[in-house]
Amino acid sequence: MAETTELSFRNKTALAPMVRCGTLPMRLLALDYGADIVYCEELIDIKMAQCNRIVNEELETVDYVAPDGRVMFRTCSREKDRVVFQMGTADPQRALTVAQLVQDDVAAIDVNMGCPKEYSTKGGMGAALLSDPDKIETILTTLVNGLSKPVTCKIRVLPSLEDTVRLVRRIERTGVSAIAVHGRMKEERNQQPVHCDYIQAVAEAVSIPVLANGGSLDLVKTHSDIAKFREATGACSVMLARAAMWNPSIFCSQGPVSIDEVMEEYIKYAVRYDNHAFNTKYCLCQMLRERLESPMGKLLHAAQTNKEICEAYGMMQYYDEIESELQRRKEGLQKNNINLSHPTLEGDVWIMPVRFERREYPPQITPKMYLLEWSRREKLGQPVYETVQRSQDRGFQSTVAVAEKKYRSTLWEKSKKFAEQAASVVCLRVLGVPEGRVGEDSCGLVNKRKREEENKNGAIQPEDSPPAPELDGRKRHITLSPQKAEEPTNRTCTQPVVNGSHHSQTAS
Ligand SMILES: Cc1cc2nc3c(=O)[nH]c(=O)nc-3n(C[C@H](O)[C@H](O)[C@H](O)COP(=O)(O)O)c2cc1C
Repeated sequence: MAETTELSFRNKTALAPMVRCGTLPMRLLALDYGADIVYCEELIDIKMAQCNRIVNEELETVDYVAPDGRVMFRTCSREKDRVVFQMGTADPQRALTVAQLVQDDVAAIDVNMGCPKEYSTKGGMGAALLSDPDKIETILTTLVNGLSKPVTCKIRVLPSLEDTVRLVRRIERTGVSAIAVHGRMKEERNQQPVHCDYIQAVAEAVSIPVLANGGSLDLVKTHSDIAKFREATGACSVMLARAAMWNPSIFCSQGPVSIDEVMEEYIKYAVRYDNHAFNTKYCLCQMLRERLESPMGKLLHAAQTNKEICEAYGMMQYYDEIESELQRRKEGLQKNNINLSHPTLEGDVWIMPVRFERREYPPQITPKMYLLEWSRREKLGQPVYETVQRSQDRGFQSTVAVAEKKYRSTLWEKSKKFAEQAASVVCLRVLGVPEGRVGEDSCGLVNKRKREEENKNGAIQPEDSPPAPELDGRKRHITLSPQKAEEPTNRTCTQPVVNGSHHSQTAS
C-alpha cells in the first residue's frame, strides 16, 4: 500500500484561504503554477456538519453537499496531499466532528482565528478567538488529539508584541504543526502596512513552521518578492492571498503568465469541475481588476452561466468538448448502474443515489419513522409511498411524497421495505432533517421513551415487521409489467438539473 507522507509546512509557498476565491478551480490553478500548499475558503463548522460526503463519480470529485443540494466543499485527488481545509469554529466538539468528516480527503485542518468580519466574530469565531486563548487551546488540543492529520491555525497579530508571542507559544504547546500569521491586527485593514517585525518575533519564538502572510499589497508583486518577504519576516514559509487572487501565476518561478491566459486556464477548470457560475464570475472579476469596465468586463458581467462565460471568452469549443466528455462519462456510469451522487431535480422528483444500510441505524430506528415524526411535527399530511418493481431483477424503487414534493433514490433495492427507507433518506437529506443514524444528533425527533411507548402500542414497529399503514404513511405498490419495466430506469437515467447547471452548485 502506498504510504502517505504528512504534509510539511516548512519552506513552502501557500495559497491563502479566501472566501469565494479559494474554490477548487483556483486551488488547482495555484498548484499548476507552483504553489506547494493550497487552503480552501473558510467553511463554517455548523454548515459543514450538516453536509453529506458524496463521491461524485461523474466529475471524479468528492463533494460535501448541504441538505439543500449546495456543494459546500468540492475536492479531488489531484490536491488531496496539498489542500488544507480551513474551518470557522468556536466549538471544539463541533470542530472535531467536521474535521473527522473531512480529514481523509484533505492534507491538513486549519482553524481560522483571524477573520475580523462580523459574520465570523459574532459567533465567537475568527478573530474573536484571539481574545479567548483558553478556547483556542481547547479547540486546537481537541483537534490535535482527535485527528490523524496535521492541525494548523491562522491568526492575526495582537496589538502588543509580547502578547502575540505569549499567544503563539501557547498555541505551539497544543501540538499544532504550523501557524500562519497575518501580520496585521484585527482592527487593521488590508491596505495598511503589514508588521513584518511581529511576524519575525513569532518566527523566533516558536520552533514549528510559521507562514508569513499579509504582504500582497506592497511587498509581494512578483515571484521573486516571495523570497524577500520570507527574509523580511524570518518565517520559513509564505502564504499569499490577494497577489494570487489577482494573478495565481505569482507562484510560477519562470515568471508571470499573462492574465488573459490565466483566466482561460481558470475557466477550463471551472467548466471541468462544474464550478458555480457566480463563483467563476467573481474570481474572474478579481483577475480583471481595473479592466472591469472594458468590453470583456462587460461581456463577463452579462454572463450568467459557465457556458455564457465560455462564449464571452471564445472558448465554446472547449466547453463543448468537456460537455460531451462528461455526458459520455455519465452514460457509462449509468450503464454500470453507478448513479450520480448529489440531490438533483428530475421533473418534480428530488433524486439521489441512496442505499438504505440497516447497520447505520440503531435497532428499532428507521428513517421512515423519522420522516413520519417530522411530518407530524410540521403538521403535514402523512408521507405517501409509491413503489414500483422492475422485472429484470425484481428490484424495488419507492417514491415518497411529502408536502406536495416527491423524493426517490435512484438505486433499486432488494425489498420494498428497503426501497421505502431509501426514499425516506433522500427526503430527509434534501430537507436537512435528522434521519436517525447512529451518532447523529436527532434533535429529539424520535426519542427512546416515545419509541418504546409506540412500540408497545404497536404504532411504530421495528423495521422487520411491517409498520401499521396508517402511522407509517400511506402506500401504493405497483408492479411494473415487462414493457413498463424499463420506464423507471430510463427516468433515472435522464436527469435534468437544478438551476440549469448540469451537475450541482458550488457554494460561494
Ligand atoms: C477575498 C478574500 C477572502 C478572504 N477569506 C479568508 C478566509 O476565508 N479565511 C482567512 O483566514 N482569511 C481570509 N482572507 C484573508 C487572507 O487570507 C489574508 O490573510 C489577507 O488577505 C492578507 O494576505 P495578503 O496580503 O496576501 O492578501 C481573505 C482575504 C481576501 C482578500
